[in-house]
Amino acid sequence: MSAESAPTGNAELIAWVAEMAALTRPAGVYWCDGSGQEYDRLCAEMVAAGTLIKLNPERRPGCYLARSDPTDVARVENRTFVCPPDQSDAGPTNNWADPQEMKRTLRGLFDGAMRGRRMYVIPFSMGPLGSPIAHIGVQLTDSPYVAASMRVMTRMGQPALDFLGDGDFVPCMHTLGAPLGPGQRDVSWPCNETKYIVHFPEARAIWSYGSGYGGNALLGKKCFALRIASVMARDQGWLAEHMLILGLESPRGEKTYVAAAFPSACGKTNLAMLIPPAGYEGWKVRTVGDDIAWIKPGADGRLYAINPEAGFFGVVPGTSEKTNPNAIAMLTRDTFFTNVAMTDDGDVWWEGKDDAPPAHLIDWQGNDWTPESGRVAAHPNARFTCATSRCPSVDPAWNDPAGVPISAFIFGGRLSRTFPLVYEARDWAHGIHMAATMGSEATAAADNQAAIRRDPMAMLPFCGYNMADYWRHWLSFADKVAHPPKIFRVNWFRKDDDGRFIWPGFGENMRVLEWIVERANGRGDAVVGPLGLMPRYQDINWNGLDFGSEAYRGIMDIDCEAGRREAEAQRALFEKFEDRLPPQLEVQRQALADRLAELPNMWRLGDG
Ligand code: OXD
Ligand code: MN
Repeated sequence: MSAESAPTGNAELIAWVAEMAALTRPAGVYWCDGSGQEYDRLCAEMVAAGTLIKLNPERRPGCYLARSDPTDVARVENRTFVCPPDQSDAGPTNNWADPQEMKRTLRGLFDGAMRGRRMYVIPFSMGPLGSPIAHIGVQLTDSPYVAASMRVMTRMGQPALDFLGDGDFVPCMHTLGAPLGPGQRDVSWPCNETKYIVHFPEARAIWSYGSGYGGNALLGKKCFALRIASVMARDQGWLAEHMLILGLESPRGEKTYVAAAFPSACGKTNLAMLIPPAGYEGWKVRTVGDDIAWIKPGADGRLYAINPEAGFFGVVPGTSEKTNPNAIAMLTRDTFFTNVAMTDDGDVWWEGKDDAPPAHLIDWQGNDWTPESGRVAAHPNARFTCATSRCPSVDPAWNDPAGVPISAFIFGGRLSRTFPLVYEARDWAHGIHMAATMGSEATAAADNQAAIRRDPMAMLPFCGYNMADYWRHWLSFADKVAHPPKIFRVNWFRKDDDGRFIWPGFGENMRVLEWIVERANGRGDAVVGPLGLMPRYQDINWNGLDFGSEAYRGIMDIDCEAGRREAEAQRALFEKFEDRLPPQLEVQRQALADRLAELPNMWRLGDG
């Protein structure tokens, strides 16, 4: 590629593209402009190549189905590396390799890796163009599916390139690792058995090899917006978080934004698109984002958040009128479906959709399927890729360069016992302790103590540096912002002795959110419990839901013996970080153990 034909004057970018093209030797280099015509052309080419199937335009206008290689269906955490020069800077929760050695390995793999394919140059902005919270990346890839998906998931193309000007960008290098020899027939989903998803935090660079799927390949998402951005945030004094952003507007017109972190598979997308239940007429719940938040201190002493993405890459199975009506409406058009099943009339189907399974389907691997087949029709990690602007509940400010002011941070997990429906941190350091020790049950074990998979701030697979330093960074915000958000923990997943969920969840989570909003705005009542501040029965709005005070106390009571085991189990988490652990967290852990030591085995909310 000559400098003259590049649609930018950014010398560093031109040189990098030339260097990468010389290494990977593609059949051609194409700079994406991000236009609708370009997107349509890419889709048409992929239909012709068999990568995409156009769905019935009467049933799903503008929708396509992709079937990935059965070995390339999810993020590969065991092939994900964070490579600062010093291993201790990656910390005990990341895979590390020496950056020089890793570079050598990657250069070997990338050598000639794009032969026979086109290289796409994809300039993109994470966040509204021109936002002081946004940052620019450029991805190189030999996958048209990635190029088209990046147009949905980010602000991609010439406007991002123009905005970049001569500035710095995060280089995101990607190949499927499937070069084509002369005359060789392509497959519908090229990829390589060998996979590497590698981050170089010092250089703020990403190299991804061998996968065309999701977070492995759409490098703006987990790789840039979380792993690399978390390092940028540490160095520059902001936060890059695995959080949804929700706007809640009361009937009085008061708007409150909250950001919430949950581990994967806890219903984040459903919560981000919540529809208020009966009894909440006049309330509006609006979606800013469902997965990632970039949060910077504002001049007024508050924290402001943007959703750096411009699309959703959500799990399809389980999405229904009951669990997420907004998503069902959103997915009626202009969506990529990956690894769902196809109906005989060219529509899509998945497990957990409202309608009963049709008598015949083509499953996610392209095989005939009937309800008697004895296997799932859609892959459990089948995904939709759809623009944020298509979401019926999208917030009017979702694209605002200034971001939205955050009044509360909510941290959750999937825990069947011990943890109550909701409680509030006593102060910032206590909140960070709550967030640092969160997690989900790995299995449905009766005694969850041993089975909690710790997922601090839901960032376990996404923090690009030592998690202990990340906690220190979070703790430092107590001094950085005059009005830090209040911090809450929630657990929608508590079960009774018969193993049934106690809490109805979904839209009814609004009742918990309303209490959080009240508290965040300096109102609402709470009592001091062993874990934190808790709402009594009468502090929650029950209008429209039949949920008695006994059931409520059942979901709020605290088994202090289990709590003491929990405080002890946190010690094992903290010890992993040795002397990097911020001492405040051990102080918080001991304070928890001390509080629980004085209490009887079962603590219940009183009647008053
Ligand atoms: C995701 C995840 O896909 O967190 O968003 O795994
Ligand atoms: Mn996620």
